[in-house]
Amino acid sequence: MKKNGEKISMLTSYDFTFAKILDEANIDIILVGDSASNVFAGNETTVPITLDEMIYHAKSVVKGVKRALVVVDLPFGTYQSDPQEALRSAIRIMKESGAHAVKLEGGIEVSESITRIINAGIPVMGHLGLTPQSIYKFGTYNVRGADKAEADQLISDAQDLERIGCFATVLEKIPAQLAKNVSKKTKFPLIGIGAGNHVDGQVLVLHDLIGLTNEFNPRFLRRYLDLNNSIKDAVSRYIDDVKSESFPNKDEMY
Ligand code: KIV
Repeated sequence: MKKNGEKISMLTSYDFTFAKILDEANIDIILVGDSASNVFAGNETTVPITLDEMIYHAKSVVKGVKRALVVVDLPFGTYQSDPQEALRSAIRIMKESGAHAVKLEGGIEVSESITRIINAGIPVMGHLGLTPQSIYKFGTYNVRGADKAEADQLISDAQDLERIGCFATVLEKIPAQLAKNVSKKTKFPLIGIGAGNHVDGQVLVLHDLIGLTNEFNPRFLRRYLDLNNSIKDAVSRYIDDVKSESFPNKDEMY
């Protein structure tokens, strides 16, 4: 797609129903993101979600997909300690869920793990910039790569990811100019989230895009629906109908 100049569309899904809708709507890539930890499980960060939980989500997603590429996040603590553990975690995801690739956060510090996984035949997508699994190291979810040292490191990390064989990388919440500089220094696809438009594709969290969540309002987010309020409205009308005994009516009974 990058060679053909076609932008890549990517969205998250954590379950069968949404995955089927996204696939039928022709999304290019479905990410079983560890944002499931916040969005689905209600945790404050992505740190607590486990490998078993990610596999459960990924299995449900894969069942709803006929054509999209399914990428699954390796959760925090399943690939950082050593390459063998990283490989074991990636193999579990591939064997138990039927997904097509894994994604993991970090640059040079996780390159041995990435190499080990790729050498076993598993495609790896990288993730640079804001890496939410390291929230306790950074302390904030602010834009990354704003100073020169961090920007230079990010470019060097992207070059490393490409050199060791990642098929693409996510760039999260970095200045658009930095993403442009990365694109000048690499050839593999860059998928941005809050990284501007000089990248090869965009990813958003589906629940944000359709307005199921309404407390998360970063500048990069475009909401296409307001499902939070639509659902509240539908539920209120249902409650009223139950209380007033107008539901069920004659046509809704056996
Ligand atoms: O977990 C996730 O949803 C992600 C995207 C925000 C890229 O990693």
